[in-house]
Amino acid sequence: MKTSEAKFREPQGERPKAVKLAVLPGDGIGPEIVAQAVKVLDVLKRDGAKIEMEYGNIGGIGYDREGDPLPESTLKLSKQADAVLLGAVGGPQYDTLDRPLRPERGLLRIRKELNLFANLRPALLYPELAGASSLKPEVVAGLDIMIVRELTSGLYFGQPRGIEIRKGERVGFNTMFYSESEIRRVAHIAFAIAMKRGKRLCSVEKANVLECSELWREVVAEVAKRYPEVELSTMYVDNAAMQLVRNPKQFDVIVTSNLFGDILSDEASMLSGSIGMLPSASLDEHNKGMYEPIHGSAPDIAGRDIANPLATILSVAMMYRYTFAEAATADRIENAVKQVIAQGYRTSDIWTAGGTKVSCSAMGDAVVAAM
Ligand code: IPM
Ligand code: MG
Repeated sequence: MKTSEAKFREPQGERPKAVKLAVLPGDGIGPEIVAQAVKVLDVLKRDGAKIEMEYGNIGGIGYDREGDPLPESTLKLSKQADAVLLGAVGGPQYDTLDRPLRPERGLLRIRKELNLFANLRPALLYPELAGASSLKPEVVAGLDIMIVRELTSGLYFGQPRGIEIRKGERVGFNTMFYSESEIRRVAHIAFAIAMKRGKRLCSVEKANVLECSELWREVVAEVAKRYPEVELSTMYVDNAAMQLVRNPKQFDVIVTSNLFGDILSDEASMLSGSIGMLPSASLDEHNKGMYEPIHGSAPDIAGRDIANPLATILSVAMMYRYTFAEAATADRIENAVKQVIAQGYRTSDIWTAGGTKVSCSAMGDAVVAAM
């Protein structure tokens, strides 16, 4: 991560004396990877940071234990916390539940309830992992992209939506919706981030076909007037998907809608070697945030202690950078991750010849040792 980004927003007043975290491990590999991130938090505590952690259920485990993928207790805990650390949600055993009871709905609801409209998904290549990328090393070397995905509106939340019978057959429908205020606020965040990085912002939409995107383009151009130093470009999403694999290093910051950001961030993650490396931050307008790896719950490898915990650990670094405005702590964690990668420690998803294959918990221990 570029160190310039450390000052994305200036600290708001004094550093809080004690921070309160809601820890929501969730399903699948969630508990294993969150346990490694908690080891990192424990190091900070050992060194004097006052961190209170309280655990809650979300996703399938929320349904199993409390009958709801976002139990009231978890929502309350998360609203009272300064930040939320989340593992992952979902599993095949929940796929046949009524739609409102499925784990993914719990995740969407907590994003909406906490008003976490700005989702920051960095795609960064560690030089030693260039060989793990599916693209040629020279195409991805030095890659450092920040995708800013709108997270609480768009096709994911628009009404009407549903499946019903019309003219004797089933029809399915969703609504892509954006108000100008929703576009404006996420655009402001993206421009502010671009100012702290390479000062280039690419707004990705489909304005040649969708009215919603036409409005997106207009509003982003209006917001651009407030950031004359940032070079704004626009790109249709199909082209952006292509450019990301053709020449990904042309991008600095990308801002896009909920669905397009979901798709493009998965694509971008593979450029960096493994989806197991990428953290994310989801922020409200006061920089309160929820932090989670961008990958899912990986039920196929759950409970085997082989998952990559680095995305979750790096999510803790983002928490310190964005919510707590403690760049030094964020740098410390990120440097420890860089060090273990340089030392050759690899979970199986990023293992290539020559590395030392380690378990999830051993990777967590290695990061702790490097700190
Ligand atoms: C993500 C995930 C979620 C999303 C799913 C699990 C609902 O893919 O965070 O990218 O689509 O937003
Ligand atoms: Mg996704």
